[in-house]
Amino acid sequence: MCGIVGYTGKKQVDQILLDGLKTLEYRGYDSAGIAVLDNNKIKIIKKEGRVDRLIEETKISDTTGTCGIAHTRWATHGKPSDENSHPHFNHSKNFAVIHNGIIENYQSIKASLIDDGYIFSSETDSEVVAHLLERDFDGDLFNTVRNVAMQLEGAYAIAVVSTHEPDKIIAVRQETPMIIGVSQGENILASDLSAIVNHTNTFYRLDNGEMAVLTPSDTTAYNLDTGKRIVKEMLTIDWDISQAKRGGYDHFMRKEIAEQHEVIENALRGRLFDDGQVRLTELENIKDKLINARRIHLIACGTSYHAGLVGKYIIEDLLRISVETDVASEYRYRNPILTEEDVLVVISQSGETADTLAALRLAKERNAPVIGIVNSVNSSIAVECDSVIYLNAGPEIGVASTKAYISQLLVLNILALYLASIRDVKVEDITEIAKDLLSLNSLAKKLLSEDVVIKEIAEHIKDHNSCFFIGRLIDSAVALEGALKLKEISYIHAEAKEAGELKHGTLALVEKGTPIVSLMTEVSVSDKMYSNIMEVKARGGHIILLTNDQEATSELADDLIVIPKIHRYVTPVLSVIPLQLLSYYTAIIRGNDPDKPRNLAKSVTVE
Ligand code: AGP
Ligand code: GLU
Repeated sequence: MCGIVGYTGKKQVDQILLDGLKTLEYRGYDSAGIAVLDNNKIKIIKKEGRVDRLIEETKISDTTGTCGIAHTRWATHGKPSDENSHPHFNHSKNFAVIHNGIIENYQSIKASLIDDGYIFSSETDSEVVAHLLERDFDGDLFNTVRNVAMQLEGAYAIAVVSTHEPDKIIAVRQETPMIIGVSQGENILASDLSAIVNHTNTFYRLDNGEMAVLTPSDTTAYNLDTGKRIVKEMLTIDWDISQAKRGGYDHFMRKEIAEQHEVIENALRGRLFDDGQVRLTELENIKDKLINARRIHLIACGTSYHAGLVGKYIIEDLLRISVETDVASEYRYRNPILTEEDVLVVISQSGETADTLAALRLAKERNAPVIGIVNSVNSSIAVECDSVIYLNAGPEIGVASTKAYISQLLVLNILALYLASIRDVKVEDITEIAKDLLSLNSLAKKLLSEDVVIKEIAEHIKDHNSCFFIGRLIDSAVALEGALKLKEISYIHAEAKEAGELKHGTLALVEKGTPIVSLMTEVSVSDKMYSNIMEVKARGGHIILLTNDQEATSELADDLIVIPKIHRYVTPVLSVIPLQLLSYYTAIIRGNDPDKPRNLAKSVTVE
C-alpha cells in the first residue's frame, strides 16, 4: 500500500503534489518522490525517508510546471532507498511512472527487457513499467499505456506522465485503489479521498480493469480490455480531510478491520492457486533445511504470538512434527533447546520488536535457520532473517493489531501447506483448504457488514470489570487474541482460558452476569465445549456464543454470533473479526480512543 497523487491544471504542481503526499503519508513512508513536467522535460526529485525530506529537497530545486505525479512508498520489492523510490524513469527520461501494488510477473518482464538491452537503476518491480513504455511506444500515449498494462499481472494502480503529451496523466487500476477528482480547469488523481478533498468534492472511483486520462480541461474513463470510453458515476465527498485519511471511518482501527478483505487478497496473491498449489519463492534459499527440520519454533509477542499459537495447531496437525511456541521475552532467556536441525519462525508486524529480534539473534548464534513473517519491509527483523515472507498488509496505524493478525494467520496457513508440499506430506483436504482460503475475501466482507449484533453485545459488556474468553483447541488460541483486543483498548480486564481448565480455578470468578465469550467452532470437541458453557451458565454467566453451527439457537446463548463454516485451519481468520469489532465498539462506548490506548505503543522496540 502506498500513496499516489497526480495533478494537471493551471496551478504550480510541486506544492500540490507535496501537500498530497503529506496527507497520504500514513499509507506508506519508506520514501517519496515527485515527477513534474517542467518546460517539456520531466524533472524527478525522490528521496528515501519521510515526505519532509523530499519537501526540503524540493525547496532547493527551482521546479516549475503544472502537471505531475507523486508517490510515497510502502516497499514490497527492493529496500527503502533513493534509487528504489518512485517515480521511475525510462532510459530516455520521456516517461515517468508511479505504482502502488505488486507486479507479480515483473521478473520475467525484467529479464526480457534486460535481454533487449534495457538498464535498470532500481530493485523494484515497478521500474519495468517505465522501460516497457519506452520499448512499446507507438506514438500514442494512451494506447501505449494500455498495451503495457495488458502485459502486467498482479495488483497495480499506475499513473504515467510523458513529454510526448506533457499536460496529460494516464492512470490504470487493477486491484489497488485509484480515485479521480474532477474540477474546473484542473483534475487530480489519488489513492484515496484525503488527497483530493482539498481540491474538489466531486470524484469518481476507477474500478478494476479501468483507465483514466486526465488533462486540465477534461477527465475520461476507459475500459482497459476494450479501450472503449465508459461513463462513470460522479460522486460527492462529504468527509473532512481527517475523516478521509481514515477512509471515512472514525478511527484507523475500524478502517483497518474494514480493509481486511483486501488484506486477505494481498497475503494470498501469487502464493496460493486454485488447485491448492502453493508458491513461496522467498523460502527457496533454505528449502533443504525446511525439508529436514526436526522441529519448528514459532516465536513472537502479543498478537503476533497469538497468531503463532494458531500456526502451531495447523502445522502439527498437518505435518506431524513438533512445533514449539513461546513469547519472545521468555524464549530469549530460557536457554531453549534450539539447534541447526530446527527452524525458527519469528512473527512481527513492525519488524522492530526488541524481544523478537533478540530471539532471532539467539537462533543465529545456534546456526538455526530463521524465517520472518513480517509486515514492514526492510525492518530490523526482516533484514536479519535468512528468509522473509511479507504480509503485504500495508501500514497498520492503530496500536491494536487487526489486519496484520489476519494476514499472519493466512501466511501461516500458506507456510504449512508449503512445508507439506516440500516434505511430501499428502494433504487429503488440500482442495478444501485452498477453496476456503480463496473464498475468505467475500466471507470476511459479509461478516464485516453484520456489525449491528456486535454493537448490541458491546452494550451488554461495557460496564463489566471483567470478561472471559473460552474455547478449545484452535478456539483457545483465538480466545487469547479476543481477550487481548478487549483489554488493550476498552481497559476491561479480560482473560482467556482453555474451556477445559475452567473447573480448575477460574470458575470461582464467574458471577451472575459475568460476560463469557465462548468460541465453539471446533467440531471435534463441540460436545465438551457445550458442557463447559453449561457449567458457566449454571453459575449465572452471560454467554456470548461465537459458533459456526448454522443451527445454533439462543437456547444456549444470551448473545449469538454465527460465522460461516469453513475448514478449521482457516476459521480463525473469520472468528477473530467479531472479536475485533467487539473490542472496538466497547472501547468507543467507554469513551476510549482505540487508535491510541493508554500505556501502549505500536511497536515495542525496548525490552
Ligand atoms: C497487539 O494488538 C499489540 N499491538 C501488541 O501485542 C503487538 O502485537 C506486539 O507488540 C507485537 O508487535 P509486532 O507484531 O510488531 O512484533
Ligand atoms: N511494489 C512497488 C515497490 O516495492 C510499489 C510498492 C507500493 O505500493 O508502495 O516499490
